[in-house]
Amino acid sequence: MKETILKKFEEVFGDSKDVTLYFAPGRVNMIGEHTDYNGGHVFPAALTIGTYAAARKRDDRKLRFYSMNFENLGVLETSLDELKPDPAADWTNYPKGVMWAFEEKGMKIPQGMDIVLNGNIPNGSGLSSSASVEVLTGYILKDMFGFDVTNQDLALIGQFSENNFNGVNCGIMDQFSIAMGKKAHAIFLDTADLSYEYAPIELKDAKIVISCSNKKRGLGDSKYNERRSECETALAELQKVIDIKSLGDLTEEQFDANKDAIQDEVRKKRAKHAVYENQRTIKAVEALKAGDIAQFGELMNASHVSLRDDYEVTGIELDTLVEEAWKVDGVIGSRMTGAGFGGCTVSIVKTDAIDNFIDKVGTVYKEKIGYAADFYVVELGDGPSVL
Ligand code: GLA
Repeated sequence: MKETILKKFEEVFGDSKDVTLYFAPGRVNMIGEHTDYNGGHVFPAALTIGTYAAARKRDDRKLRFYSMNFENLGVLETSLDELKPDPAADWTNYPKGVMWAFEEKGMKIPQGMDIVLNGNIPNGSGLSSSASVEVLTGYILKDMFGFDVTNQDLALIGQFSENNFNGVNCGIMDQFSIAMGKKAHAIFLDTADLSYEYAPIELKDAKIVISCSNKKRGLGDSKYNERRSECETALAELQKVIDIKSLGDLTEEQFDANKDAIQDEVRKKRAKHAVYENQRTIKAVEALKAGDIAQFGELMNASHVSLRDDYEVTGIELDTLVEEAWKVDGVIGSRMTGAGFGGCTVSIVKTDAIDNFIDKVGTVYKEKIGYAADFYVVELGDGPSVL
C-alpha cells in the first residue's frame, strides 16, 4: 500500500520529496445503534482496513486532492481561502470540512497541501469511510502544523465538520471510534459524557465477518436526520412527565411506564428502540466481560430485530443478510451495523463455519436481491498513525 500510494503521488504531483504517509482506520459497530445522538452507549471498534494518505505542504495556499478510489475525478483543486461546501468538490468536501472546522476553532492553517488518498474500506458500505477521511485529515493537520489537539479533539472536530459543513447530523460514534481505536479492542463509550472504556474482543474460535450488501445508502442521509428529529420530539414529550436529559437516561421499565406521553405510535417505536438498544448495549458488554459470547450474540440479534421493526432502518438487503445468517450453524450473532438503509452487517461466526456462511448467505442474497454481497473477515486495529 505504501509503495502504491507514493508512486501515485509522484505520478500525479511530479515527485515525492518531503511526503509523509498516514493511515486512519474504518470502524464497525458491534452493538448500540442509533443511540449515540440519544445520550446512550455504543460499542464500536476500529478496523485494520481504512484510508491511507500521502501528503506534503505547499508554499502557497492551494489545496490539491487526488483519490485513488475516484480516479475518474482527477485532481480536485481549491484553496484555503475557499473552504465552503461545494457539490462539485465531491469527496473533497470531507477534508475541506475538517480544514474549515480547524479554522472555525481558531487554528489557522498556514499553508496549502497536496494530498493523495487510497482507501480499502468499501465506499458507501457503512464502515465509515467518510469519518475515516475526516479523522485522517485532522491527524495530518496536527502532525504537519503542530496543532495542539488530542485524538479525542480530532473526533469532535470531525463530527463538527460533518454536522456543519456536510449537513449530516451524525453522532460522535464513528469519529470517536476511529480516532481512539485500539488493536483487538472495542470501545464502550457513553455518549452522554464521552467517558469510555476499552474492552478486549476475545472471540476464541470465532471471528468477525462483515457482509456488505452493496446497496448504496442513497436517501440514507435524509432518513437519518428524520430519525434523529423523531427521537428529539419524543424526548421533548417525555420530558413533560419525567425529568431526563436524554433517552439514554431511561431504563426499559421507566420508558414503559411513561411512554404514553409520546403522542404518536411511530415516534413511540423510535424512542423504544433508543432506550432498549442502550440497555442492550450495557448488557452486551457485561456479557462479553463475563466471557459469555453466546449471550453477546443473542443481544446482537435482538438489536437487529429492533432496528428492523421499531426503528425501521434495515430494508430487504440487510434483513436478507441477517436472517440468512441466523440460519447458518456456527453463527453466534448477526445484525446490521452503522446507519442502515444499506451498507453492511456484522456477524460473529465460528472460524470453521465461515466458508459455509459465505456460501449460504451469499447464494440466497444473490438469488433474492439480484446482485452479489461481499464478505470480509476483519481484524480490529489501532487509531490514526504516521507510517
Ligand atoms: C452513522 C452515524 C453515527 C451513528 C450511526 C448509527 O454511522 O454517523 O453517529 O448514529 O449511524 O448508530
